[in-house]
Amino acid sequence: MLTICASRTSSLLFRLSRRSFTKLAQDSEAAALHGENDEEFLPQMPPFDYTPPPYDGPSADELLEKRHRHLNPCMAYFYKNPLFLVDGKMQYLFDEKGRRYLDAFGGIATVSCGHCHPQVLDAIFNQAKRLQHTTALYLNRPSVDFAEALASKCPGDLNVVFFTNSGTEANELALMIARLYTGFHDIISLRNGYHGNAGATMTATGQRNYKYNVVQTGIHHALNPDPYRGIFGTNGPKYAKDVDEIITYGTCGRVAGFIAEAIQGVGGIYELAPGYLSAVYASVRKAGGLCIADEVQSGFARTGGHFWGFESQGVVPDIITMAKGIGNGLPLGAVVTTSEIAKVMTCHGYLNTFGGNPVSTAGGLAVLKVIENEKLQQNAFTVGMYLKNQLLALKEKHDIIGDVRGRGFLLGVELVTDRDLKNPATRETLHVMEEMKDMGVLVGKGGLHGNIFRISPPLCFTREDADFLVCTMDHIMSKM
Ligand SMILES: Cc1ncc(COP(=O)(O)O)c(C=O)c1O
Repeated sequence: MLTICASRTSSLLFRLSRRSFTKLAQDSEAAALHGENDEEFLPQMPPFDYTPPPYDGPSADELLEKRHRHLNPCMAYFYKNPLFLVDGKMQYLFDEKGRRYLDAFGGIATVSCGHCHPQVLDAIFNQAKRLQHTTALYLNRPSVDFAEALASKCPGDLNVVFFTNSGTEANELALMIARLYTGFHDIISLRNGYHGNAGATMTATGQRNYKYNVVQTGIHHALNPDPYRGIFGTNGPKYAKDVDEIITYGTCGRVAGFIAEAIQGVGGIYELAPGYLSAVYASVRKAGGLCIADEVQSGFARTGGHFWGFESQGVVPDIITMAKGIGNGLPLGAVVTTSEIAKVMTCHGYLNTFGGNPVSTAGGLAVLKVIENEKLQQNAFTVGMYLKNQLLALKEKHDIIGDVRGRGFLLGVELVTDRDLKNPATRETLHVMEEMKDMGVLVGKGGLHGNIFRISPPLCFTREDADFLVCTMDHIMSKM
């Protein structure tokens, strides 16, 4: 017989001891709470007062068969049997049988306020009922209100907004603006970065997994300032010298710009080494270029300490690109820049049928309000720090964890088969991920070798959720 532990107690026990849960169950406190000593001690999901409506549509097998027949064949899925999700509420997801899962991936760092957040839904429905679409050739209030609110969240003179529908589109536009404004062509991006799947953005992306064999020109990939595996450790300015060398040896000496994420998301939650961005921004600006901050994952309070990821490096970019968390799941992206830089686009019309549409921008404005009213940035900071500390404690216990990194709710746990050699534990990562799902916890994975857990939950994630996640991971690793 299995005994289910209370998550508060399990976290307490986790802090007190590094022993396995089976041993923990032998503690007198645990034994008193959980009965017989030989019973297995399983972490329990925090209670949540919501039952989704019953699902009576086609089965997962039927959908999978149709997906194979009609959807593009390059679509991958997590888990041996793909999870079929039909409902979401805040930080929880429900499958077709009504089983609840703790969502620690957030639809790839996209669900910011929480699944189906009532205020965001109200804003979307209310707008859709009055006016769903016209065109930017007429006035519409939500896009203007949202642009004004967004500008107020950006530093310095960054107060002109171009709306797009995705992160790829936002980055494509930003790269083009940099080229038009400077009159130069060369862009520098980082190895292991991800910026999108279209022409310039796929070129800027620095990982073979996301690059098709098509002509890709005009972008140079600089050394990744990766504190875990990089040759200069945590010395940001040393890595920055590579950008100087690229400008000197790989371009005419003048560049259009530089683009980077503050924390590489798809690449496996790599934080740029401290001091990197300020040194690079200085070099790029000296060479005539603009500095673009790709905040698609690290923006909108996700890193906790700041609203934007780049702020932790003490820099102010010339262009910020954003998507994902901006809309809590709506197809919405944006480029924010200065009015001087934005003017370069006035030589022609920038046509974007859905960019700034009333429904998405009404939703985006509601997202900003929820982040503020519910103090989600503060929550990402405190609970994110708590979760990271718990994961660091787990690292002390399990050698398979080579690194724990990131900020707020953009955290990474890298698994390695050997801590010194840092060999990726790809197979083991898949195993832990599968078992975590079976125990009700969904995490993402990423990195070139697929050996890094990506933890990017909705920003309403609680301490109890963090305990449950860590206890689950611990439980599985203890049995490996
Ligand atoms: C940092 C970053 N930039 C850009 C993109 C592309 O965004 P989208 O998938 O919305 O086109 C992504 C997507 O994962 C991303 O993580």
